[in-house]
Amino acid sequence: MPSLNDIRSTFLNYFAKQGHEIVSSSPLVPRNDPTLMFVNSGMVQFKNLFTGVEHRDYQRATTSQKCVRAGGKHNDLDNVGYTARHHTFFEMLGNFSFGDYFKEEAIPFAWNLITKEFGIDPKRLYTTVYHTDDEAYDIWRKIGVPEERIIRIATSDNFWQMGPTGPCGPCTEIFYDHGDHIWGGPPGSPEEDGDRFIEIWNIVFMQNEQFEDGSMRALDMQSIDTGMGLERIGALLQGSHDNYDTDLFKSLIEASAGATSTDPFGDKNVHHRVIADHLRSTSFLIADGVMPSNDGRGYVLRRIMRRAMRHAHLLGAKDPVMYQLVPSLVSQMGAAFPELGQAQALIEETLKLEETRFKQTLDRGLKLLDDELDGLDEGSPLAGEAAFKLYDTYGFPLDLTQDALREKGREVDTDGFDAAMEAQKAKARAAWSGSGDAADNAVWFDLLDADGATDFLGYDTEKAEGQISALIVDGAEVDKIDAGTTGWVVVNQTPFYGESGGQVGDTGVIRRLENRNEVAVVEDTRKFADAKIYAHKVRVESGAMTKGEPVELEVNHGRRTAIRANHSATHLLHEALREALGDHVAQRGSLNAEDRLRFDFSHAKALSADELHRVGLDVNAYIRQNTAVETRIMTPDDARGIGAQALFGEKYGDEVRVVSMGRAETGKGMDGTTYSLELCGGTHVRQTGDIGVCVILGDSASSAGVRRIEALTGEAAFTHLEREAGRMADVAGALKAQPVDVLDRLKAMMDERKALQNEVAQLRRELAMAGGAGQGGGADDKEIAGVKFFAQVLSGVSGRDLPPLIDEHKARMESGAVLLIADTGDKVAVAAGVTDDIKGNVSAVDLVRAAVEALGGKGGGGRPDMAQGGAKDASNAEAAISAAEAVIGG
Ligand code: ALA
Repeated sequence: MPSLNDIRSTFLNYFAKQGHEIVSSSPLVPRNDPTLMFVNSGMVQFKNLFTGVEHRDYQRATTSQKCVRAGGKHNDLDNVGYTARHHTFFEMLGNFSFGDYFKEEAIPFAWNLITKEFGIDPKRLYTTVYHTDDEAYDIWRKIGVPEERIIRIATSDNFWQMGPTGPCGPCTEIFYDHGDHIWGGPPGSPEEDGDRFIEIWNIVFMQNEQFEDGSMRALDMQSIDTGMGLERIGALLQGSHDNYDTDLFKSLIEASAGATSTDPFGDKNVHHRVIADHLRSTSFLIADGVMPSNDGRGYVLRRIMRRAMRHAHLLGAKDPVMYQLVPSLVSQMGAAFPELGQAQALIEETLKLEETRFKQTLDRGLKLLDDELDGLDEGSPLAGEAAFKLYDTYGFPLDLTQDALREKGREVDTDGFDAAMEAQKAKARAAWSGSGDAADNAVWFDLLDADGATDFLGYDTEKAEGQISALIVDGAEVDKIDAGTTGWVVVNQTPFYGESGGQVGDTGVIRRLENRNEVAVVEDTRKFADAKIYAHKVRVESGAMTKGEPVELEVNHGRRTAIRANHSATHLLHEALREALGDHVAQRGSLNAEDRLRFDFSHAKALSADELHRVGLDVNAYIRQNTAVETRIMTPDDARGIGAQALFGEKYGDEVRVVSMGRAETGKGMDGTTYSLELCGGTHVRQTGDIGVCVILGDSASSAGVRRIEALTGEAAFTHLEREAGRMADVAGALKAQPVDVLDRLKAMMDERKALQNEVAQLRRELAMAGGAGQGGGADDKEIAGVKFFAQVLSGVSGRDLPPLIDEHKARMESGAVLLIADTGDKVAVAAGVTDDIKGNVSAVDLVRAAVEALGGKGGGGRPDMAQGGAKDASNAEAAISAAEAVIGG
């Protein structure tokens, strides 16, 4: 009996032999669709190939696509566990032709695979065609399907549409008759909903495109899109009509039974089915980057998890169960989907965290539910208020309460639930509008209220489609922003990072999907309304941005790459600083921009050259280690418990992202080998090696007790190093030396310069003493009141030269006073000296002050034997000398 893995391989290999490229499943979160919550069929990743917008180097493809139908338009969550074929997660096998083959080949491909490769008895097969499609009808006839088993269907059942817009076309389906022991009738009959006739394959003839306004165009090329549920064909080939009877599900159900020590079958079977199905969807969603939250996709994930957890509870499980089953799932599906194994630790931790936390309220919530039901009349629904209390206080999603009531044959008053939800929103609104926030904040909270939080896709992708939910100009909502105008664009989902945690907001472009020439340039991205609404600050370049329109959002890749490298390097830098300086180092602020990083941290004194060197070496060693950067979700307490760095004074939510990088012998984290572990919502490199290189520019004081390091990474670091090397080469060239000899050469030149300066000073003094530098009056000793006095006005000497000259005159005169006035052109230096024998009678300070005053200046000082001062203008030099003489003359 072929296993599901065998069937998947047989399918893919069969089409590979027919010239199809085997393409990997796309992630469950669609990037190329503005409104689809999860990928729900095989063609989603090829949508733009059908419409001709995109081209690839193959025209035939085959996939086994991961699909989730929970939340959004296709929601099978409520039925899972209770039926034979509903799943939240399933695999869709498909073959695709992009303008290559059409009906003539697609139908025989399917028929041959089913009847020959899979060996299904053709007599059990029925087909349907769109009522006007004679061509498909004739092909089935030609193959040998008898007329009575080709059914024309006039309804939309045989016209397949991806959604309200997009590629579409008539289809033909293949049905399997499980036999008359099961109730049901052929397609198109009143009993068609029974389990006897089961659709196993849908072949869509993609030939039209549906537009928003209801119109449809014929596509330029005719294509093929097919879909066959692996679980369904698997059940059939394994002799059952129940998908949960297949090898894969049986092994998951047995794992669930093992973990809860319960009977896999019998009355517990429904719980195991729920757990097995939900284990698959939750694990694959987490592997594809969805994290449990209270909004959007994250909330769908949380609802599925909690639903499974309640069923584990019904099995009597005391401890978390789901996470224990992940290894079973990985061993079943990890070979076909390697992402599962890669994310195994993340999946286990996320499930365990959610289970542990939900358990704390589950018992109390169920008790409340029982109490409420006790007081209710037979058959009457649970009050909406009670369901809302379960939701609000105990974390019971509405569908979980509904699921719990289903077993008791009761329903919830959903109108009452909605009313209670509205009342709470109104209360929250009143609270924030009265908070004194800036008036325009109201706009963002209104948006949050109306449309919910923006779904951020930027951890996994830089390009995605979304739908414009609001446009804001000057604080008010508008329907349109025209070319040449600036404003804010809000989209239901975005890959653009909104400025936070030191990381700058992304820039890039938004294009209108239906006309990519209509472009808005995104200059910044910010978060508003409790950081739940992402808004793109745009300038519309051409066309217009219109509310409700689907758009494509593309982040500036080069800039984001540089920002990512800087942010990851900041984490390594933080840890390296702690290692080098001590555990007192804590982050006080940071900037992760495109061109540089800045990190402020608590530390009292400047870093020594050695410390800076060590930090730089460490950071770069961990960059070269090139290990994967990993992200986990934890409670803030758990994160701190394993040593994660948190920001002092920061308010964290119930769950935090924890980013780890680098392997160290004695490190942090669960296994004690993680180098850097930080609470962080930013975007990071995949591998530390992606940072390239980190160059620390220097350390400076930021504020009291806080140092600041600035650094560069990647291309900016390389450019910096190259520019510095260029400068060094220029310096070496100018010095006519090799770069390695520059320092010695420079030192030698400085010594030489010093010697020359001394020599020049000496020559000047000699010249001055010889009278050569003298200018104007009094070059001879005079005798005033019995004191020998020498005064001279000099040019070509500086103030610095005066004291040694004074000394020489004092030595020459043996006893006396000297006054020298040096006119350097833009200022005047004055110095006076008095020999020791008379300095008690005449003070050099008095001589200088008198001379300076006569020169129009002020002050001067020194000792009685030597004093100096300065003035601006030497034209009164004669008066200055006279003033000094007057001081001596008394
Ligand atoms: N896209 C088609 C489906 O999902 C094949 O049924």
